[in-house]
Amino acid sequence: MNDKDLVKEAVLARQKSYSPYSNYMVGAALLAKNGKVYHGCNIENSGYSPSNCAERTAFFNAVSQGEREFSAIAIAGWAKDAQAGGQAFPCGVCRQGMVEFCRPKEFKIIVANGDQDFTVHTLEELLPHSFGPDNLK
Ligand code: THU
Repeated sequence: MNDKDLVKEAVLARQKSYSPYSNYMVGAALLAKNGKVYHGCNIENSGYSPSNCAERTAFFNAVSQGEREFSAIAIAGWAKDAQAGGQAFPCGVCRQGMVEFCRPKEFKIIVANGDQDFTVHTLEELLPHSFGPDNLK
């Protein structure tokens, strides 16, 4: 699966977004090292704080199905009524969530800019000097 196709999967995942409070719809497509793709979307809550971001939904979906090794995630996020546009970089909590399962120098974070364009980053670039499982070994 190439980066462009993974972005297309994230755009599809975005359609499932439950975001009646922010009206900001986000989808994520997480690529496992075995080639399988797991979707996630943001899921909001009337209590606000229990809301979950698309990226962590994708990880929880994958990990709960036994997946542990990942190579990339694509993220597609923009307002419900916008045609497409703007980039949704993962929040700090999601970046930390990724460190648990991914090697920061290798794991790719592909951030859609609308449904045609995207930029590619590493987890290390977005969360330098991270604290992860290796620290507790
Ligand atoms: N959100 C995500 O799901 N992922 C991001 O990368 C940024 C923000 C969600 C959280 C909330 O449901 C909505 O977008 C507005 O912050």
